[in-house]
Amino acid sequence: MCGIVGYVGPQPALGVIVDGLARLEYRGYDSAGVAVLTDGKLDTEKRAGKLANLRAALEQTPRDADGIGIGHTRWATHGAPNDLNAHPHVDNDRRVAVIHNGIIENFASLRLELEERGCKFSSETDTEVAAHLLSQELKDRGDDDLAAAMRAVCRRLEGAFTLVAMFVGDPDLVVAARRNSPLVVGRGDGENFLASDVAAFIAHTRDAIELGQDQVVELRRDSVAVTDYDGNPVEVREYHVNWDASAAEKGGYDYFMLKEIVEQPKSVADTLLGRVGVDGTLTLDEMRLAPSDLRDIEKIVIIACGTSYHAGLIAKYAIEHWCRIPCEVEVASEFRYRDPILNRQTLVIAISQSGESMDTLMAVRYAREQQARVLAICNVNGSTIPRESDGVLYTHAGPEVGVAATKTFLTQLIACYLIGLYLAQVRGLKFGDEINAVIAQLANMPEQVERVLATVEPVRNLARTLSDASTVLFLGRHVGYPVALEGALKLKELAYMHAEAFAAGELKHGPIALIEKDLPVVVVVPSREGRSVLHDKIVSNIQEIRARGARTIVIAEEGDETVRPFSDELIEVPAVPTLLQPIVATVPLQVFACELALAKGNDVDQPRNLAKSVTVE
Ligand code: F6R
Repeated sequence: MCGIVGYVGPQPALGVIVDGLARLEYRGYDSAGVAVLTDGKLDTEKRAGKLANLRAALEQTPRDADGIGIGHTRWATHGAPNDLNAHPHVDNDRRVAVIHNGIIENFASLRLELEERGCKFSSETDTEVAAHLLSQELKDRGDDDLAAAMRAVCRRLEGAFTLVAMFVGDPDLVVAARRNSPLVVGRGDGENFLASDVAAFIAHTRDAIELGQDQVVELRRDSVAVTDYDGNPVEVREYHVNWDASAAEKGGYDYFMLKEIVEQPKSVADTLLGRVGVDGTLTLDEMRLAPSDLRDIEKIVIIACGTSYHAGLIAKYAIEHWCRIPCEVEVASEFRYRDPILNRQTLVIAISQSGESMDTLMAVRYAREQQARVLAICNVNGSTIPRESDGVLYTHAGPEVGVAATKTFLTQLIACYLIGLYLAQVRGLKFGDEINAVIAQLANMPEQVERVLATVEPVRNLARTLSDASTVLFLGRHVGYPVALEGALKLKELAYMHAEAFAAGELKHGPIALIEKDLPVVVVVPSREGRSVLHDKIVSNIQEIRARGARTIVIAEEGDETVRPFSDELIEVPAVPTLLQPIVATVPLQVFACELALAKGNDVDQPRNLAKSVTVE
């Protein structure tokens, strides 16, 4: 949550910062602001609302800023999303400007202390305490050493934060500190950058430095120095960003989400690449967990949030069926508060596309404290969750900018299937016909998703007719149930509609009372392959709701004529093994939610109140 950009170099800082913020706006869009130096004086501009409001304000008052600046897009935590609470925040002498991502948990006591020392606060944010603390620290020290002041301040702060500061007393320096929130440095030639995400500076440099926990970086034109909070130099990991800058552009689409839905065949193919051999053998050595570690696993616990949690629910069906290992799935925010039973024989799989969700990170830390082995599934190289896990399997979806997860979800499913099949392989389980068929079918998934995308136009037309509906229900059985949950979540977050998903078998235990004339109900019908009982049961459920007046929107495999008579709308998807069906069945639901939201005039890339990376608990 919150996007952060910092720059020191020869270019006019404002342009670099605002362009960087435009690439980070998906992280929060409640307000945006910048601080630069103009003629050696601190110059800030900030506006509530989207970046466009800040741009308009900057255009009204053009300035000739020096080559140093910091900028921020906010997802509000403390204080309403208005101009005053927007970052940057400054001290009373306007010598220090600070931007912040995270929450300073002890801000209330610090604020009291600072007020007693005469500091006047102009916002309700926790961030403002950092600006005053830095200013006081510089005064107390009696020097201009902003990095030393930052280290001293960080030692007093509790919570999660990335803090970035600049100071009129040292006009060639941006200082940043990191604890639990993301921060990367971009190393240029005679210029340097920092940001919450490489997307902010990829147009300028691909050479990045990953900052570790509790580290402070001093960024100057010609140097980058990293220390711990006590000032000791630390080793950092440098890496080269290998995705193309155009991957983070809209590429002719009106919205990132539309582009990201269409990119799914490639994302799935890239995630499979090099991991499935021609003879069906899986190679996942990169996971950092040795086969010997995986052989003695007695239980698997999957932890994740939101869409990633739905991927985990689907993984449970596959892993238990293929590996015969008990598998629990839990929302990460609940996990550590219920005293779960974990030990060295427990494999915890943490699924997080961003690698930064605070709920999942805290659950990972808790699991490791309990001696469990933790394997992350993540889309962002070097992010916190994989760094703090014992092993990681990266998905290769490329950057996902739309706030709603689409291509990262499909690639998380692929990663879960690969892990399930690999566990079966290393544990020496007999690879029967079913498993061999699944591995062969996995390789076909990019093509199958392509086929869904080619036939999805009727779904768009249907979605437009439903923009006035007040509620949509979703039903599924087996892996179709988490797909239904995902369809409902997409509709809630994008179209701001009431949408609920049920396991179809639960219908008669209460939710059927909701069914009334013309209520749209989306039903995900399992494949007929091998599990015909399941299939037949859901066909009965469709008849039950239709008899009560529901408008049935049925997603079923091609050639399934049994559902046609009971479907007001039939959306066909390619026939694939049941456990893999979520890969093809989710895509029409993504398109459905996206199109319905667009028909309502909503911004599908930046739905209200949301942020891409949820770095608060
Ligand atoms: C929904 C969505 C969220 C995320 C959730 C977890 O479209 O994107 O529900 O899935 O916030 O995020 P990660 O996977 O980054 O941990």
